[in-house]
Order: sequence, then C-alpha cells, then structure tokens
Amino acid sequence: MSQRLKGKVAIITGGANGIKGKVMGIGGASARLFIQEGATVVIADIDKNRGGETAAQMQEISTGPQSAIFMQLDVSKEDQWSELVQAISGQFGRIDILVHSAGNSHTASVENTTEEEWDRQFDVHSKGIFLGTKYVVPVMRKSGGGSIVILSSMDAMIGASGGTAYSAAKGSSRTFAKVAAIQLAKDKIRVNSVHPGYTDTPLARAAIERITSDGSIDPRISRIPMGRLAQADEIAKAILFLASDESSYVTGSELVIDGGVTAQ
Ligand SMILES: NC(=O)c1ccc[n+]([C@@H]2O[C@H](COP(=O)([O-])OP(=O)(O)OC[C@H]3O[C@@H](n4cnc5c(N)ncnc54)[C@H](O)[C@@H]3O)[C@@H](O)[C@H]2O)c1
Repeated sequence: MSQRLKGKVAIITGGANGIKGKVMGIGGASARLFIQEGATVVIADIDKNRGGETAAQMQEISTGPQSAIFMQLDVSKEDQWSELVQAISGQFGRIDILVHSAGNSHTASVENTTEEEWDRQFDVHSKGIFLGTKYVVPVMRKSGGGSIVILSSMDAMIGASGGTAYSAAKGSSRTFAKVAAIQLAKDKIRVNSVHPGYTDTPLARAAIERITSDGSIDPRISRIPMGRLAQADEIAKAILFLASDESSYVTGSELVIDGGVTAQ
C-alpha cells in the first residue's frame, strides 16, 4: 500500500458498517481504506456493537503503528462532540481529517413529512455536520491544517422525488461546505462535499426494502446511465483523495459520484 495518509489522525462519523464479508457503508469502507493508507482512524457512530466490531477488524489489518478505535457518538449532540474531540486530542495530540458520513433516510411527500422527521433529518445531516466541524477546527488549526469531507448526496443537486426532508438537509450540507471552505482556507483547512448517487450500503438496502416489500421493482437501476449501483468503496476512494494531501488545492468543491444520474 502507498500510505497516502501516513501519520494522520482521522475521525469518520457513521463508520460502523465496515465489517468484512458484510455489505459496507461509505464510512465503513473509508475506515478500511484509511487504515490501509497509514491513518489512525476513530470510528464515531451511534451503533456501539457494529462500531466496536468494525474497529477491532481494522486494528487487525493495520500494518504499522496506526490504530483503529471506536467511540460512541450521536452527531446531533453538542456535548458529545465536545467530549469526543477532547478525548481524541488528548490521546493522539492531533486531528487531521474529519469525514462526516453519519446518515439515515426518510421518504415522504411535503404534506406527509412530520415536523419530528424534518428535525431528525436536519439533526443528523445538517446540525451534526456543523457541530463536528465547529469542535474539530480548533484542533486542526493547532497542527497546521486539515481536511473535512462532507457526505452530501446527489439529492442536493436535483430534487429527489420523495425524500423531502432528506434532500433539503443534504442541500444545507452542500452550502455549509462552501461557507466553511471560505472561512477556513486561511488556516489550511480544506472542506469539500461528496455527492454519491445510488450506493449499495446497509442504509440504502433498508430504505429500498421498505419500497419493494410489496413486490415493486427497484426503481433506481433504470435511472442510472451506468446501469448499476455504486459500491461503497467506489465512494471511499474519492473520499481518500479529498482527505489526502493529493487534493491540496481542492476546497469548496463538490464531487458528484453517481454513475451519470445527474448528467441527464
Ligand atoms: N447509500 C446511498 O445510496 C447514499 C447516497 C447518497 C448519499 N449517502 C450519504 O452517505 C452517508 C453514508 O451513507 P451509507 O448509505 O453508507 O450509510 P451506512 O449504511 O453506513 O449507515 C449510516 C451509519 O450512520 C450511523 N448513524 C446514524 N445516525 C447517527 C447519529 N445520529 N450519530 C452517529 N452515527 C449515526 C448509523 O449507525 C450507521 O452506521 C450518509 O450521510 C448518506 O446520507 C448515501
């Protein structure tokens, strides 16, 4: 392996789905790639069981001094971010990379979206990104810079037919990335957003099973010019590029990885 992240410390939120032999999430696939590339990885997720198992497996594939640990975090809670960042900077002395990959999904029309669901989507996909960035930035600044990668969605570029609150929240994270990129450029902290299309992950499988449980055909494939779903590691490779120094002049940009869906 090329060790493109050698010596760096990375937090990956929503990284619990990285268990070998099971379908991986984008955060989980990124965690595997990051540790292979020499980073110490903190998997920060609400799910303690899967997160712990993923971190233990990562530790096994580590070939150098880098380690993988799990820390439980609800990204929407300010006190938890404060404690997490304090604990990581105490243990490792630095934070170089933050990948915001925590997510959930919800499909409902404008009229059928409840206030509670609207708030849940914004708590995770908007407030969680703001809070994590807010707490990590002072630590990154102290060690001379860093890279923040925000998992938005192609649904932030085009209207998704049913994901009212989800799409609106993803749109907010797209704009937040640009605001933060401008403010933090002077500190050598780069902020970029990634916009995946239909990706085969545990989260997406759960959502599609709700739609197809009555025997309906998966509506996604016919919309994709490439004719197939993305695998999580295809998104993770782009996240690795944005996290590494190879993208040293890339900030405030949006990388769409959708097999051509939004090109139509
Ligand atoms: N899968 C897709 O088709 C797709 C497409 C576009 C964008 N995305 C986005 O990419 C990101 C990763 O998606 P994925 O499909 O790989 O997900 P995934 O299968 O890895 O599941 C999401 C993870 O986030 C964690 N999580 C949920 N709420 C949390 C919270 N409050 N605090 C901490 N962790 C929490 C879950 O426990 C889970 O481990 C999400 O932001 C998602 O919206 C996914």
